[in-house]
Amino acid sequence: MSDCAILVLAAGQGTRMRSSLPKVLHALAGRPLLGHVLTAARLLEPQRLVVVVGHQAEAVQAAFPDSDITWVNQAQQLGTAHAVQCALGALGDAPGEVLILSGDTPLVEPALLRGLLMQHRQSGVGVTVVSVIQSQPKGYGRIVRDGAGALLRIVEEKDASEAERAILEVNSGVYCVDRCRLAVWLREIAADNAQGEYYLPDLLAVAREAGAGVGLFQHGDARSLAGVNDRQQLAALERVLRDRLVAYWQQEGVTFVDPDSCWLAVDVVIGQDSVIEPQVILGAGTRIGVGCRVGPFCEIRQSQLGPGCQVKGFCHLEGAVVEGESTVGPYARLRPGTVLAVGARVGNFCEIKKSYIGAGSKVNHLSYIGDTQMGEGVNVGAGTITCNYDGVHKHQTVIGDGVFIGSDTQLVAPVRVGEQAVIGAGTTVTKEVPAKALAISRSPQLHISDWKRRQGKG
Ligand code: UD1
Ligand code: CA
Repeated sequence: MSDCAILVLAAGQGTRMRSSLPKVLHALAGRPLLGHVLTAARLLEPQRLVVVVGHQAEAVQAAFPDSDITWVNQAQQLGTAHAVQCALGALGDAPGEVLILSGDTPLVEPALLRGLLMQHRQSGVGVTVVSVIQSQPKGYGRIVRDGAGALLRIVEEKDASEAERAILEVNSGVYCVDRCRLAVWLREIAADNAQGEYYLPDLLAVAREAGAGVGLFQHGDARSLAGVNDRQQLAALERVLRDRLVAYWQQEGVTFVDPDSCWLAVDVVIGQDSVIEPQVILGAGTRIGVGCRVGPFCEIRQSQLGPGCQVKGFCHLEGAVVEGESTVGPYARLRPGTVLAVGARVGNFCEIKKSYIGAGSKVNHLSYIGDTQMGEGVNVGAGTITCNYDGVHKHQTVIGDGVFIGSDTQLVAPVRVGEQAVIGAGTTVTKEVPAKALAISRSPQLHISDWKRRQGKG
């Protein structure tokens, strides 16, 4: 496959998205549309990978800092054929094929591209285009054949007659072209059409008229070749990809109790025998170990769960590392920089930020722990708060192994609690607590005898 180049067209604004974000940066399963296309393209190990950008070119380029991409700028978007024209220099003139893809056709599969390349090589034609039957062909270019069934030309929706609009076989926007003849044919394409644009689909008619063979590669899976022009199409593909991802992980031994209610990003990894309960969101950068259970209504992003973890219902995890056999929730929030060591427990209505919770330590009820280094086997009582912010700076709290913190304690950072120390309930800790000491700060309890309660009117 090595002597093919891949060209991806991604310069358009995507007007129909009605968005300030360039269309190819809209996310599908947590990855930009263009990222999906590039992932498929790279699996063919092309000799060159060229991407044409134009509308908000800097933003699109910045989203893909990879060094294997040659970027081409199409300053004015005069149409798909013009986009290819702009890329000719970057494609070079070594013999071989160019596979042309659209940045807005994200589910294109490497197997399809390989099949296309093979058919193109075997048939010896100048251009091959991938066609597909779309039951809703609106917006696509239609494949027009002659009486004998041979490809005549492609007609865009806006230029099509009523009869042509009834054609369900459409142009998928994926082409394979002989690189050496591409430049000559492009020059023959005019912009004399309804949109006044240089249409790449005209390449087929031009090549045919020039006497080169043209081929159709018919593909059976319309969903893999669906383009995203508007938000409805984006949502439709989101469902298609979700179903595929769920099916993949089911094959790998993961249970989804209610697959239709879950959403997962394309790069999520889930270990065998894990159970995902209804209404769970697993965002980009998430890895779930083997034998975990993620309870209902959880949202987990950029986080890792070690083997055998339990995340009970209604938890929110972002940028957290939860080591094996830990328990989180229900109703817990783990913010970026949180690490729960093996067998730790964080219970209901607790928030943990940028903190290390040592092995087997428990923060079970109504606590805020931020900027804290906590040892092993610590017990944090209900309502404990680390006061980590003085209004200007954040400060650290360090808690040694085996510390017992009574309920309703405030730890005013920066502060250290030595190992095995005990803190009495209701204490405000402002000074270092020595190891094995009891710290307590409470005003003595008074009793006033025969207290007369205030009487209300009447
Ligand atoms: C295009 C095809 C249509 C096909 C459909 C498949 C044309 C004229 N029509 O229509 O036959 O059925 O794709 O999805 O090609 N782009 C540029 N520069 C430009 C214009 C577009 O780079 O000047 C890029 C866009 O960013 C996009 C791709 O080319 O990624 C396709 O453009 P788009 O406007 O979406 O074409 P469609 O109307 O979908
Ligand atoms: Ca499109």
